[in-house]
Amino acid sequence: MGRWSRAVENLVSAPFNNFYAGKRVLVTGHTGFKGAWLSLWLKELGAVVFGASLLPPTQPNLYELIAEEVFEHDALCDVRDLAAVVKVIESVRPDVIFHLAAQPLVRRSYAEPIETLQTNVLGTANVLEAVRRLGLPCAVLVVTTDKCYENPETGRAQIETDPLGGHDVYSASKACAELVVQSWRKSFFQTDAKLGHVATARAGNVIGGGDYAEDRLVPDCIRALIAKQPITIRSPDALRPWQHVLECCSGYLWLAARLVGEGKDSPISGAFNFGPDEDARRSVGDVVTEIIRHWPGEFHATPPSNGPHEAKLLWLSAAKAKQLLGWQPTWRFTEAVGKTVEWYRQRHDAGREEMADFTREQIADYVAAAQLKQLTWAI
Ligand SMILES: NC(=O)c1ccc[n+]([C@@H]2O[C@H](COP(=O)([O-])OP(=O)(O)OC[C@H]3O[C@@H](n4cnc5c(N)ncnc54)[C@H](O)[C@@H]3O)[C@@H](O)[C@H]2O)c1
Repeated sequence: MGRWSRAVENLVSAPFNNFYAGKRVLVTGHTGFKGAWLSLWLKELGAVVFGASLLPPTQPNLYELIAEEVFEHDALCDVRDLAAVVKVIESVRPDVIFHLAAQPLVRRSYAEPIETLQTNVLGTANVLEAVRRLGLPCAVLVVTTDKCYENPETGRAQIETDPLGGHDVYSASKACAELVVQSWRKSFFQTDAKLGHVATARAGNVIGGGDYAEDRLVPDCIRALIAKQPITIRSPDALRPWQHVLECCSGYLWLAARLVGEGKDSPISGAFNFGPDEDARRSVGDVVTEIIRHWPGEFHATPPSNGPHEAKLLWLSAAKAKQLLGWQPTWRFTEAVGKTVEWYRQRHDAGREEMADFTREQIADYVAAAQLKQLTWAI
């Protein structure tokens, strides 16, 4: 094999130690923003990809642009229904489960607190319980959020051992999901030789093409730009750790791959933050300014209102992921915003209908950038 063809093959198949080639992988929440990106990347890595979710939460959505090429089978499944979850997992018999299905919106959690708790807490318990009942040796990665911490807003980066908490119901539901995982791990996964491992991943303020959620900064900006209206933002000074969706997906993929084959007391079977570098700790106003550098428009801040509580400061330390997994962020803040806006401009400004190839190109760009940085998962 020549040098060039080997290099091309490496780019396509080497990431994550080639772990996913031929693996059966179930993604819950595959009809959502992050689940669709993760599923497409898994397919690129050679996995046999299954999905289990409710219908796409938004219209339009990324899922419908990629589904036909990606999923071996996808099931309509409500994670609040244990029997339905058992049925799907039993039929797929996955090697790995990525549990992303959730009610992920803070504002909606004020309107629908019980639905938020049922989906995020009971839904997580149901996935773990289904694996336990079926006695499967699969690895389970549960996606929570950077908002699961009590976060006293001191400006110090949150580490995995910091107290869990949550002012709003969404944050509390994800803190509870973390506790559910801890108890299923200690009570069942660590003690039953038949079972595999379960870990949690905490990341947040994720941006990327194909997100159309209500009340999220980037989709709100894009809707205004498409309509040629000024962008209105609340809390322009709120600081957040912004990261491209491929950053947290690379963390999820590497963590789950590393879980397999670990001993029962492995430190990998735990909670991990996947946050960006200091460079990406930016205000909401900075993000919008960067967006309109790539897609010209105007913005103004609305006066402070009596809206629901939102943390002014949120910051995550990814030191544990760096130390135990060799994981680090790849794209800088400006690249993350640039790639995000490029995706939406292709779709809505240039009118490109076919987005699966374009999304795959962004994955390949990201992998190439990680390889240049010699990141462990990429080489
Ligand atoms: N996007 C972010 O910035 C962000 C930040 C931190 C954490 N997260 C977490 O990442 C995960 C994915 O978030 P997202 O932004 O892709 O959300 P999304 O709203 O785009 O997708 C949510 C997915 O969950 C599914 N779902 C909702 N309720 C369900 C139920 N009862 N049963 C089965 N499926 C159900 C939806 O159908 C959809 O597939 C969530 O767990 C979320 O809490 C997201």
